[in-house]
This record gives sequence, C-alpha cells and structure tokens, in this order.
Amino acid sequence: MKPLVAPSILSADFARLAEEAAAVGDADWLHVDVMDNHFVPNLTLGPPVVASLRKATDLPLDCHLMIDDPDRWAPPYAEQGAHNVTFHAEAAADPVRIARALRSAGALAGLAIKPKTPLEPYLEILPEFDTLLVMTVEPGFGGQEFIADVLPKVREARRRAESGHLRLHIEVDGGIGPDTIAQAAEAGANVFVAGSSVYGADDPAEAVRRLRDKARAAVAT
Ligand code: DX5
Ligand code: ZN
Repeated sequence: MKPLVAPSILSADFARLAEEAAAVGDADWLHVDVMDNHFVPNLTLGPPVVASLRKATDLPLDCHLMIDDPDRWAPPYAEQGAHNVTFHAEAAADPVRIARALRSAGALAGLAIKPKTPLEPYLEILPEFDTLLVMTVEPGFGGQEFIADVLPKVREARRRAESGHLRLHIEVDGGIGPDTIAQAAEAGANVFVAGSSVYGADDPAEAVRRLRDKARAAVAT
C-alpha cells in the first residue's frame, strides 16, 4: 500500500489551525488528536473543532480518539465528516459495534493499541476495520521517543492482513521522523503520523515530502 504521511496538529499552533493545515502542503491525511483528560492526562479538542477544520481544509481528517467511552463518543466524529476515525481498544466495550457505526456514518474505522497492549486478542476482528493504529509512544503527548519494541506487532499485523487479503492501513504514531520512518515502513506500516518532525521543521511541506520519500525508499527493493 502506498505510504501516507499524516502531520499531527497536536504540534501546530491551535490558534491558527487553518493556516497550519495549509502549511503541510500535499500531506495525505491531517491527524487530529482528540484527548479527554481521562483516557490520557491531556486535553485537546472535540467535534465542533473537527467540524470547523473540515470546512477549513480539503485534507482528509484522521481523528485519533484518546478518550474513554468511544462506544458513545466516536460516531459524532464520523458524522462531522472525518475521513478516518480511530478509537482505542483499551477503552472500548464493543469495538465491532463502534466500527460498524463509523462505517455506516461514512468514515473509515480504525482501532488503536497502546505500546503495551497485545495485538493477539484483536486479530479476529481486523476485518471489521480499515485502519490499525499501533502506537509507537505512550499516548498523550507529542515529542516523545519512538519505541522500536512495538515493531513486531506491526509485522504481525501486516502478515495477517496479507494472508487474510485485508485492505488494512497500518498506522504508526509517535516519534516518527527521518531517522525512524524507514524501520516502521519496512515492518509493514503504510500510514505515518508525524507531529514535531513536521511542525518543528522550517518548511513543514518539505518535511512531509522527505518523510514520504524515505518511506517509499524503505519498501522499494
Ligand atoms: C500522541 C499523539 C500523536 C502525537 C505525535 O499521543 O497521538 O499523534 O502528535 O507526536 P510526535 O510525532 O511529535 O511524536
Ligand atoms: Zn495521534
């Protein structure tokens, strides 16, 4: 699957979100981190901001919900026009039911797992999802160091997707930059979230292109 780069607006200036969305040029998706101060010790934004962003940019919105009770709170993000809505397995009571609600509201459905959460219990339900997000840092904050120990989960997920003929995006999030993207791509990830390495760059659009080129080069043999 072709590599997609998703800049995370967690590292952007929240007072200038429309301009910050424009600054990443031809990024593939725009990653929107939703945090509720319960599932993670940080607080960001909710559906009204997603609705406004939707009008301010043509980039597909990739909503990453780091929230409790996604069974109740995830569908509104799909209804506000998000392209992909990913919720955490650790917080969900009925992941399959949520995935079906997201898809029927017109969004891609994504399942996220934290670094210490095993993949195994979720392998059977992967056909219900379009995206699997394997966290490469503990969720909550940008600018943390990439955890390479999670890459075997990426490999296993890609192997399962291929053997089951699933069209599954495998996304990595946390610590992705020029020095780490190649190993994630080589392991089988195809969606790369990058916050500080894009918005911390002098030219964010150029940083996106460089990351995409590195991911492409890592899988082209
Ligand atoms: C962290 C968020 C990430 C964050 C990544 O919980 O899910 O999307 O923005 O930031 P970097 O790329 O700086 O690690
Ligand atoms: Zn995220």
